[in-house]
Amino acid sequence: MPGVEVKVEGLTKSFGRANIWSDVTLTLPPGEVSVLLGPSGTGKSVFLKSLIGLLKPEKGSIVIHDTDLVRCSENRLYEIRKLFGVLFQDGALFGSMNLYDNIAFPLREHTKKSEAEIRDIVAEKMDMVGLKGDENKLPGEISGGMRKRAGLARALVLDPEIILFDEPDSGLDPVRTAYLNQLIIDLNAQTDATFLIVTHDINTAQTVPDNIGMLYRKHLAMFGPREVLLTSEDPVVAQFLNGRRQGPIGMSEEKDTAQAAREMAEVDELSGLPPIKPQLEATAGLPERKAVGRRQQRVAEMLHTLPPAAQEAIRRSQAESGQAAPQPARRQAVGAAPYGRPDAPADAPTQSIPRVQDAPLGQPLPSQNAPQDAPQNPQQPPTGRAPGGPSSGPGRHRYR
Ligand SMILES: Nc1ncnc2c1ncn2[C@@H]1O[C@H](COP(=O)(O)OP(=O)(O)OP(=O)(O)O)[C@@H](O)[C@H]1O
Ligand SMILES: [Mg+2]
Repeated sequence: MPGVEVKVEGLTKSFGRANIWSDVTLTLPPGEVSVLLGPSGTGKSVFLKSLIGLLKPEKGSIVIHDTDLVRCSENRLYEIRKLFGVLFQDGALFGSMNLYDNIAFPLREHTKKSEAEIRDIVAEKMDMVGLKGDENKLPGEISGGMRKRAGLARALVLDPEIILFDEPDSGLDPVRTAYLNQLIIDLNAQTDATFLIVTHDINTAQTVPDNIGMLYRKHLAMFGPREVLLTSEDPVVAQFLNGRRQGPIGMSEEKDTAQAAREMAEVDELSGLPPIKPQLEATAGLPERKAVGRRQQRVAEMLHTLPPAAQEAIRRSQAESGQAAPQPARRQAVGAAPYGRPDAPADAPTQSIPRVQDAPLGQPLPSQNAPQDAPQNPQQPPTGRAPGGPSSGPGRHRYR
């Protein structure tokens, strides 16, 4: 199953007079894993809900398989929604149904499968998320982390081509988060589905995605290959990735500019970003992630448009993983191309990385590829699955 591209252009969403974000433009590359970061309240959940047509943006388009979800008929929207598997931030389980019925719900609603087939699928997914034996429990009788995992199982029962996870790791302990992250990469290897994950977990952002975006101050401040955000010197990014109090992000998002500047001066000497960690690889025995090769091609074509630090990080990670360095599509003047415009001429004037707070906000980074990253982090815990015999589907995998 090939991955599905999701193309978002000029998307703007308000509730009444309150604008949430404007002019969001990004493309989720088919079959790749993308992460969306952003301070609380910046509209990440609203963005995911807009992607599946639960909320209607007033401007812009979301195109999947040549259908614009913002303008299509209800019937077409219903059809397109079957491509999605969604884990909502709150799990969104039916309180009066036990876990088995909750997880079976999409199958009963959207397919004509027999109860015996449904039983097999539900058992497989429950085992995969470590909930075997909990079939009869009600959502109110289990822990928050278990509810999250039940929501995860339900998101996967229809073998979706586009998977949206809203904070799948919140409420999970660090070990289960590590298993979950490996599960995401393994699911991607097995299904080639397109993933968009909202997370506040910096380790997840550093080790899981191919691409990272960030919503900030009502705009998409960045979206592009992971190396771009992970090497960005933007104060907002640095504050976020370091989990620091000092910086432009305040408790209620907006911070007084003068105060932010004073704090930035204070932390100047401690500044810097955490080193880039290797991206997780699929567990041994699983198929290679098809996204890796596609992404490598894409990043080679856009490399000259990326900031120098991102270019260097990409080359380094490729050298470490023994791949050939990506060849730019055209003559390259390092650091000379405007950031975020893959078609920019190589002799365009130098432009530094855009600062999130001083515009041009909403100008997306090139969302396109980066190469395969370094080998699997040996620190990651095993997934509980013996290497060898490739699985026939995502259900073979589990975490506890
Ligand atoms: N249905 C709605 N009607 C009115 N306002 C809404 C609605 N849904 C969300 N909002 C508002 O949109 C803003 C963004 O909310 P959202 O839940 O998307 O934030 P978020 O980035 O997901 O935050 P968090 O990280 O805390 O989950 C908030 O101010 C919220 O109050
Ligand atoms: Mg949210």
